[in-house]
Amino acid sequence: MKVASNLPPVIAIDGPTASGKGTVAMRVAAQLGFHYLDSGALYRLVALASDKEGISVEDPSALGHLATGMQIIFRDGEVLLAGKDVTELIREEKIGTRASQLAVYPEVRDALLVLQRSFREQPGLVADGRDMASRIFTDAVLKVYLTASAQARTERRYKQLIAKGISARMDVLLQDLQERDARDTNRGTAPLQRVEGAYLLDTSDLSVDQAVTQVLNWYAKLHH
Ligand code: DC
Repeated sequence: MKVASNLPPVIAIDGPTASGKGTVAMRVAAQLGFHYLDSGALYRLVALASDKEGISVEDPSALGHLATGMQIIFRDGEVLLAGKDVTELIREEKIGTRASQLAVYPEVRDALLVLQRSFREQPGLVADGRDMASRIFTDAVLKVYLTASAQARTERRYKQLIAKGISARMDVLLQDLQERDARDTNRGTAPLQRVEGAYLLDTSDLSVDQAVTQVLNWYAKLHH
């Protein structure tokens, strides 16, 4: 099948939790003047909304139904759900864990498919998540698998939480992170993976600036 060449270009950045892919993706998008999709936020919104409505995390059909009808607005870095600012709420650890649990269901993933693709607008899109390259934007012009060691990711998450005034324990965070990695990687539908052709970017020893520069360099090379 020939892919229409007039579709806006997509840069897909996939990777495990707390790898820093969100920060890098957002900065790359800002540099290029591209739109940005934080696909994890959508799963987190399903997690938050279903929790509020008392829907079980083991009820795929109710979760899928809910995901189809959500009223979501992304505006200047803020996330609104049914008109309410939930930017901070969806970042909570327990919401992240719940998002990972309900993300295993095809019913939920399918419900979010069209919504995710609707973010693809001119002049281009940077999308981050787990299956951006493998499922949602398989024709992405640049695919990056962004990761870091479990230790480095745990330290980053720890610092983020402490900076926000939330108490945390390194050992608990590490265990949580490993459980989340295992669930996101081993699920049957659209698991986290490094697809063929994806550049590997290990940010364990890189600053955000260095990681952003690397992605921009890969993107610039496409045009030479
Ligand atoms: O990127 P994040 O940590 O905000 O994502 C939260 C959870 O949502 C993640 O653990 C798994 C799920 N997710 C997914 O299954 N597919 C995506 N494209 C993005 C997130």
